[in-house]
Amino acid sequence: MLFSPLAWSQHWAETHEHEPPAASRRVALRRFAGPASYVGKMDPMRVAHLTDLHVGRVTPFAIQREAQALVNAQNPDLVLVTGDFVCHSQLYLDQLTQLMSGFHAPVVAVLGNHDYWAGAEEVCQALRRAGVEILRNQHTTLTVRGQAIQIVGLDDAYTGHARHDKAVAGLRRDLPVLALSHIAEEADLLWPRGIPLVLSGHTHGGQITLARLHEITLGKIGGHKYVHGLYGSRQANDNAGAVYVSAGIGAAVMPLRIGARGKREVTIFELGVAPGEFSEPQGEQRALPGREVSAAKLKRRMAKVARRRDQRANRRTQRMPAVR
Ligand SMILES: [Fe+2]
Repeated sequence: MLFSPLAWSQHWAETHEHEPPAASRRVALRRFAGPASYVGKMDPMRVAHLTDLHVGRVTPFAIQREAQALVNAQNPDLVLVTGDFVCHSQLYLDQLTQLMSGFHAPVVAVLGNHDYWAGAEEVCQALRRAGVEILRNQHTTLTVRGQAIQIVGLDDAYTGHARHDKAVAGLRRDLPVLALSHIAEEADLLWPRGIPLVLSGHTHGGQITLARLHEITLGKIGGHKYVHGLYGSRQANDNAGAVYVSAGIGAAVMPLRIGARGKREVTIFELGVAPGEFSEPQGEQRALPGREVSAAKLKRRMAKVARRRDQRANRRTQRMPAVR
């Protein structure tokens, strides 16, 4: 479908007609255009991106609600969430279901490392009870106001669950596509498969971003190429693309957020609209050098997931009444 400025302005007017003032003291709202390759090939579509909710003890539920209100006020066509729904335990899964039931648009998600540590199957059950579609190395095609879009969901790479071939098998080249991956560096392997935009989380933007501290802690020490914001290029054609790393909403250790780049965030992508059509918080940044994750490290991460699973199974067995 061809993009026309008139259709775009009508869409904007319709979706903002009854919109309450979308402002939050604690959650930033950042808005970006989609990849240039979508322009003229799809009707405008508004996507809200959330990540790292970490529903649980560390992040007040009022903040989760505030982020959700911010999303709903934007009247998005889709809500996309890139993992880390929980915070160390399964104690708050009912609260997670309650929260995820409150979005007005369809929700599609992938899992993060914390979801695997706490119990991926149980987190998925809680999300499915709320009507969330979870993509684990697979893709789905959604139709929004007559416009089809493919969403690829890569399972969590941090804990060794990402399978790129499986996730993209059967993708259509004639429909727009974007991908979700908890770990942003996986974008390097998704761009050559015809995916021009990848949405990610995991870093929390460093949480403390004064004096570019986040680039030291996450880049130099943590080995991340992509720390916060846009990287790559939205103008790219084959074999390249853009990745967005959101600072997310919650935290798993300390709730502190200092500095504009580390602020909790809801991100809006206006797909089908060309970069440069409206002002954006920042443009594409140069990637940091990054560091490959060694096979030994990945093995240790996978072992941690297995160890936690065994611990949960043992605790369940101990709680069962003895058979006489
Ligand atoms: Fe996280």
